[in-house]
Amino acid sequence: MITGNGIVKTFKQRGNMLGAREVRALRGVDFSIPKGGAASFIGESGCGKTTLGRIIAGLETYDDGEIVIDGVPMSSLTLKRRQPHFRKIQMIHQDPYSALNPTRTVHQTLRAPLALRAKQTGRSKAWMDERAAEVLSLVGLDPATVLARYPHQLSGGMRQRVVIARALTVDPEMLVADEAVSMIDVSLRLGILALLKDLRERLGVSVLFITHDVATARYIGDDGDLYVIYRGQVVERGPVDTVIADPVHPYTQSLLSAIPVLHGLELPGEQPVVPLEALNAGQDDVGCLFAPRCPFRGERCDTERPLLQLTEGVPQEHACFHPERRSVIARPMSEV
Ligand SMILES: Nc1ncnc2c1ncn2[C@@H]1O[C@H](COP(=O)(O)OP(=O)(O)OP(=O)(O)O)[C@@H](O)[C@H]1O
Ligand code: SF4
Ligand SMILES: [Mg+2]
Repeated sequence: MITGNGIVKTFKQRGNMLGAREVRALRGVDFSIPKGGAASFIGESGCGKTTLGRIIAGLETYDDGEIVIDGVPMSSLTLKRRQPHFRKIQMIHQDPYSALNPTRTVHQTLRAPLALRAKQTGRSKAWMDERAAEVLSLVGLDPATVLARYPHQLSGGMRQRVVIARALTVDPEMLVADEAVSMIDVSLRLGILALLKDLRERLGVSVLFITHDVATARYIGDDGDLYVIYRGQVVERGPVDTVIADPVHPYTQSLLSAIPVLHGLELPGEQPVVPLEALNAGQDDVGCLFAPRCPFRGERCDTERPLLQLTEGVPQEHACFHPERRSVIARPMSEV
């Protein structure tokens, strides 16, 4: 079980003549991903998904809050002692092209982490070769065909499978898949998604899926929670199906209307959400973060920040002063 309590992360970006600019990437995020379970983070570009994924995988520091892995708070450990815990969490990046060293064959790519494990556990070279073949088979690749190949000799889908195989060499408990299919040819995406789903079932590995696309979140983590993130804050969360069927936060509703979801969904009404580009910076400190774009904004929304609270009648939470079931209606696939 991996939980996060109140995770805060601010980046300092080089600014203009006035000096560095602070970007509040995460503003107190809570999450919980059970062993063998699934969770999905969705939200538009820049909302903090990758930052949160990297923090969960131990690849990024955080300014406040706590990550607890299998009951152990990471802040109670030295950096060195955290490593074995974070090793249980492996990240699959968006771009399988840059994730693999072009000068290494698949065999060499898998040998590096396996050699480390063999050394730690006193295992033999034969074990390393067996394990390399095993992880390739697990991801649906034929070891005899791919072991001697270089990345440029593989398709994008095969490369991503090799990346997943490399992650499996350390027997992870969780895979963090960050837009893991977005740079892969559309025809090969479903195969990778099916593989992640299959690994969940066969190995009991949990999967955290980071995506812009609700449909893929639903496919992978149909029994897990969906976290809708807006500018570093979770604004709605709950079981994927209930959040998709019954969103009460205007941002979730706008996301569902903007993305062709499953069979396409759209938000009826005459007051469209203001596009992100139309926003002025600096409206961060008071009120609801979504207020400048929200068609349903009331007075309280400008002066107070809504916190996550239970949504009536469904097992989900929202951060909105005017939660309402504004019917998000299905659009036929032919119109998407
Ligand atoms: N290393 C960094 N240094 C400075 N700012 C950063 C850094 N990493 C992320 N940010 C900023 O933090 C915010 C959140 O970025 P993040 O990459 O987590 O978003 P995201 O939701 O993954 O976006 P996308 O969907 O485009 O991948 C953005 O404003 C981004 O510019
Ligand atoms: S709190 Fe107000 S501004 Fe924010 S999403 Fe809800 S209705 Fe809109
Ligand atoms: Mg990202």
